[in-house]
Amino acid sequence: MTLFDYSSHLNDYLINMVPQREQEVLRMEEEARKSGFPIIGPVAGYFCYQITRMMAAKKIFELGSGFGYSTAWFARGIVENGGGIVHHVVWDELLSQQAQKHLSQLGFSDVVNYHIGEAVKTLGETPGTFDLIFLDIDKEGYPGSLPIIVEKLRRGGVLLVDNMLWGGRVFNEGDHSSSTKAIRLFTRMLVEDPAWLVNIVPVHDGLAVAYKVI
Ligand SMILES: C[S@@+](CC[C@H](N)C(=O)[O-])C[C@H]1O[C@@H](n2cnc3c(N)ncnc32)[C@H](O)[C@@H]1O
Repeated sequence: MTLFDYSSHLNDYLINMVPQREQEVLRMEEEARKSGFPIIGPVAGYFCYQITRMMAAKKIFELGSGFGYSTAWFARGIVENGGGIVHHVVWDELLSQQAQKHLSQLGFSDVVNYHIGEAVKTLGETPGTFDLIFLDIDKEGYPGSLPIIVEKLRRGGVLLVDNMLWGGRVFNEGDHSSSTKAIRLFTRMLVEDPAWLVNIVPVHDGLAVAYKVI
């Protein structure tokens, strides 16, 4: 059998399997495309939604939410799970306002709680524990966020982390940028800790799925 490098075909192939999105979600994708804003995109978004449904999550905390694209996928899962809350956190007020507009248009106002501030600090200050935590802040902040995440994720909860392959820079031994080093360190912290069962799913830019067993 002849094998070929299918990586350039993969995303288009997988996008075609994502069910039809609402107009407002398509508008958000178009907005991101035009401005170059780094959303997780439809394949990873649908994956996040699937995990939300599979674990019947009710309490979700997002670190690094942007204008609400990833939040929309979690919020849909929460609504279909019978209700709950997803915390949207970003330090830019304008992005928070844009997210409120998009998510209310989608009918998710009742299940989203908006915070403006540093995401890890906000997680630490928010009462209770969570079923699912999604990490997508500046990459230099990943290693420092882990102790707070461990404290705030319930046993049996799931941590999803974006950009774990960092456009392939994690493989490039010559890359010593602060963001790449932070992702490598964070990856080691996660996979070497017996508290977690971890896989990196190579959708979008590499999505870690970490199940907290202890
Ligand atoms: C990659 S974007 C988020 C994209 C979003 N998850 C999505 O897929 O739609 C990260 C966002 O979080 C913000 N951000 C980065 N680090 C942060 C931090 N430590 N605390 C709060 N916001 C942060 C950035 O300004 C940006 O708006």
